[in-house]
This record gives sequence, C-alpha cells and structure tokens, in this order.
Amino acid sequence: MDKFAVLTSGGDAPGLNACINAVVHASAFYGHEIMGVESGYEGLVKNHFFPLKLSELGNINALGGTILKTSRSESFQTKEGRKQAFENLRKNEVKKLIILGGDGSLTGAQIFSEEYPEIGIIGIPKTIDNDISGTEFAIGYDTALNTAVRAIDNIRDTATSHNRVFIVEVMGRDAGYIAYGTGLATGAEGILIPETNMDMVYLTGQIQKHIEKKKPLVIVVAEGDESGGAFSVSKKLKEIIPEREIRVSILGYIQRGGAPSAFDRILATKFGVWAVQSLLEGKSNVMVSSISGKIKHTPLSQVQKRKMKISSSALEMLEICTF
Ligand code: F6P
Repeated sequence: MDKFAVLTSGGDAPGLNACINAVVHASAFYGHEIMGVESGYEGLVKNHFFPLKLSELGNINALGGTILKTSRSESFQTKEGRKQAFENLRKNEVKKLIILGGDGSLTGAQIFSEEYPEIGIIGIPKTIDNDISGTEFAIGYDTALNTAVRAIDNIRDTATSHNRVFIVEVMGRDAGYIAYGTGLATGAEGILIPETNMDMVYLTGQIQKHIEKKKPLVIVVAEGDESGGAFSVSKKLKEIIPEREIRVSILGYIQRGGAPSAFDRILATKFGVWAVQSLLEGKSNVMVSSISGKIKHTPLSQVQKRKMKISSSALEMLEICTF
C-alpha cells in the first residue's frame, strides 16, 4: 500500500475541491492512504502534511477555493527547497504526489520529478485562464466564464437604462479565452483579446458604427490585451466620443471564486480519479488531461502556457457577432 499526497498550487480556481474529493475517494477505493499538503509547494518545503480521511471530508464539491489552501512558493523554486520537500515526503512515507496547478506549477512539478524520480508525480491542469497546453479545458475556466457572463448581463441592464458605454475587463493575464467566450455569450459590441491585432482601429470602427445607432455599448477587454486594459481603452474612447457617458468595470477576483459549475465539477472529478489510476498504473511525470472527453497523458516537459489560436473562422465569428 503506497501513501499518496495531494496539493494545490498557484491561483485558486473553482472546482479544486471537487478534484480533491475525487482524489480522496479514488485513493480510498483502491485502498491507499492519502495526505493533504497545506498551501501548495510551500507546505511541502515546510512539512505541512495532514491525513485526508474520506470519513471526515464531508461534501466539498460545491465549495469554491481550495480546502488545502494554495500559494505561489518561492522556496520550491530553489534546489535546496526542493531537497527539503523531498526529505519531507520521505519523512511522511509519501511515494506518490498529485499536483493541481497551472503551467508554472506544472513546470515546477516536472523539475522536481526529474530531480527525484523515485516519487511518482501526476499533474492536473487548473486555471480560470484556460491557457495550459495539452488539454481542451482546465479546471475553473467554465465557472469563471459563467460568473463573468452573469456579471456582464447585469452591467448590460445599467448600460441600457442609461444609454452608457461600458468597458468591462475580464481576467486572462496572457490569454483571451474568458474575454472571447464572455463577449460572444453576452452579445458584446466589441471584444478585445491579446490574440488579435484588433486594437483601437477596430474599436474606433465599432464605436462609429454603433454610435450612429445611439445604442448602449458593452466592450469586453481581456486583462492581457495590448490596449492596456479597460481604463486605457476608456481614456482613448473619451477622445473619440466625448459626448457619451463611459464607465469602466473590472470584474477581477469575483471570477476566481464561487461554487463551481456542473461542468467544472465533472471535469475535476474525472481528473482526480484519472490521476490516482494513472499513478497506480505506474505513470509519472505526466499531466492528465481531457481531449474530446477522453483521458490523455501529456509529459510534464511538454506542458506550457497555451496561446489561444484564433482561427479565421473564430475571427469571423467575432466580427459577425460584434457587427
Ligand atoms: O491565472 C489566473 C489569474 O486569475 C489571471 O487571470 C490573473 O492575472 C492572475 O491569476 C492574478 O493572480 P494573483 O492571484 O497573483 O493576483
């Protein structure tokens, strides 16, 4: 009987708890003990391990955040930190480790796995930004998308009532997945994402087109867009349409919290079970992921930040929907 451990690293994302729940269930089902590590890699380095017992877990599937807590650890980025982490795993007799993380955390997992191959390591992709290569969906994206859509629908009411122009900034440090999805879902009059070079020229065109119709406008901007974000778009728009009332709304961290959607809970549950099964099959140094609903194993060395590819049909879709 091997002892497993699980940790969550990097920014939190809705669905982490459903995944932890599945990991604990699968470990118990296959007769293995499992420990939680508090606050991600930091807990590995500081030896913050505790038993995760199915009988004591309760139902955590509906909870946002992570019951294990999370952090972005600096000490684990050093060789000494990782050595300490390995020694702590040995002290706790843990042979297999499951890491829920984004691309940065999974790169850390790969380095650790290559330095200490005696520890079986499986990564699970999570980030609301959905920008991890090797998987269609990461845990948290669907919920964040739905949260942002609900928020923009509310903003639309004010925009319509006051005939205002709203610039709404959604998360996505490097990728436009949330902005593209929310823009289409809410019928935004403009969508600014880092993957297109539809910057102010596009926006000016959009504004002029829509302004003639005297419509309230909602422009969705990705946090990582080259325009510099909602405030800088608003500043530029003021020069083009000084007569219109312009408001900025930055959705921010509301997108990271809240009860996970059914989609995220199911995805997270599958990832959790697949991770335990993969470890039991002897797999290591890989990320479990989902392509067309089927399990896939991607070597951690190939996991990187995914650039959203905006195909010509996706671009056409954007142009049609914001026309
Ligand atoms: O990676 C997810 C994300 O929410 C980004 O969209 C955002 O830029 C970033 O995390 C914020 O991270 P932090 O928790 O460090 O403020």
